Amino acid sequence: MSRFFDLVSKPARDMRRPILSGNAPVAIDRPPQLIKLDSNENPFGPCTRAIDAMRETLAGTGSYPDDDCNLLRRKLAEHHEVQMEQVLVTAGSTALLGLLCQTLLEPGLNAVTSERSFIVYSMAVQAAGGHLIEVPMHDDGFDLEAILAAIDSNTRIVFIANPNNPTGTMLESEMVDRFLARVPSHVVVLLDEAYYEFAAHFATLRSVKYSNSLEYVRNGASVVVLRTFSKAHGLAGVRVGYGLGPAELLGYCARMRNTFSVSSVAQAAALAALDDHPHIQSVVENNAIQSRDLSQGLLALGYGVVPTSANFVFCDLREDAANYADRLHKESIAVRPLGSWGAPNCIRVTIGRPEQNRAFLRAASVLKSDAENRSASR
Ligand SMILES: Cc1ncc(COP(=O)(O)O)c(C=O)c1O
Repeated sequence: MSRFFDLVSKPARDMRRPILSGNAPVAIDRPPQLIKLDSNENPFGPCTRAIDAMRETLAGTGSYPDDDCNLLRRKLAEHHEVQMEQVLVTAGSTALLGLLCQTLLEPGLNAVTSERSFIVYSMAVQAAGGHLIEVPMHDDGFDLEAILAAIDSNTRIVFIANPNNPTGTMLESEMVDRFLARVPSHVVVLLDEAYYEFAAHFATLRSVKYSNSLEYVRNGASVVVLRTFSKAHGLAGVRVGYGLGPAELLGYCARMRNTFSVSSVAQAAALAALDDHPHIQSVVENNAIQSRDLSQGLLALGYGVVPTSANFVFCDLREDAANYADRLHKESIAVRPLGSWGAPNCIRVTIGRPEQNRAFLRAASVLKSDAENRSASR
């Protein structure tokens, strides 16, 4: 075995994640014309206010940032009408997932979630030495009954991605209300609302109620709500997200964090982006309109599409998705094949700008005719 295998901790040894490679393609190798529909990013990027705010911060980056992100926490607390100590800002919301696991889990303890959900849940649980129980899905969404049944005396966290990544399905607020009423008191529920703004907009269009998450926080429930600036605010590259939850629990999580991990540039960008409602509105409106066109285009090609409440579409190609994604990449379009999620025939496509979605559908149509011609000539 290798030189360090016996020296590293068990979680580092057992982690199901590729080892860092020296010859993987780097982002700068990416063709400039690549249409990136593989990571659920915002195709419009950040708002002008955020860009200006980041620019103004640059000259001061010789100093460390405010470790507690006090200005941003105060603004978030006002914005969400919670106490400032109920807000913890982290370098992307995935960092908070890691902190929560390190704070609540240890070997012998477990967390529960659904199969085919956000991949970082399993990484964060494994890194903390815990065990992740993944229950089967129901109609491509979370099966809350199955989650309740899987909770045992060693469970400390339940992860609910709402909407779920990669299927895009949403749980309505009443379902979550009823579920929370039945979760035992030794379990903290992480309500992951990374796609909050998109889901809230879809819910309004569909006349359904999306989320009561802030009520749970205000009432002191054992719930941590996760939000991020990476999606609707278009700031995925600067890494800033946050959790809203019980002050005591977030205080323990804050003790476990790395120092100065949220840069001053990220704090300034988030402060500026938080209430740029016109930008967010145009982003979610484009998303809703384009989700319809993209879904209809894929359905017209004969593929299966799950109705989405997020900024991506889960699509069943009924053929090998990894190979399909490779062929699409040659046309300078990146989508995410979902073999690692146990869905080898499915892809996740980020909803892009209109011209990006049209380019994707054109390429998808060519791939479809090629496949039909191949099978006809066999
Ligand atoms: C369900 C879910 N939660 C959280 C995140 C994390 O985003 P970030 O770490 O950029 O805040 C993502 C990103 O794709 C996601 O899909």
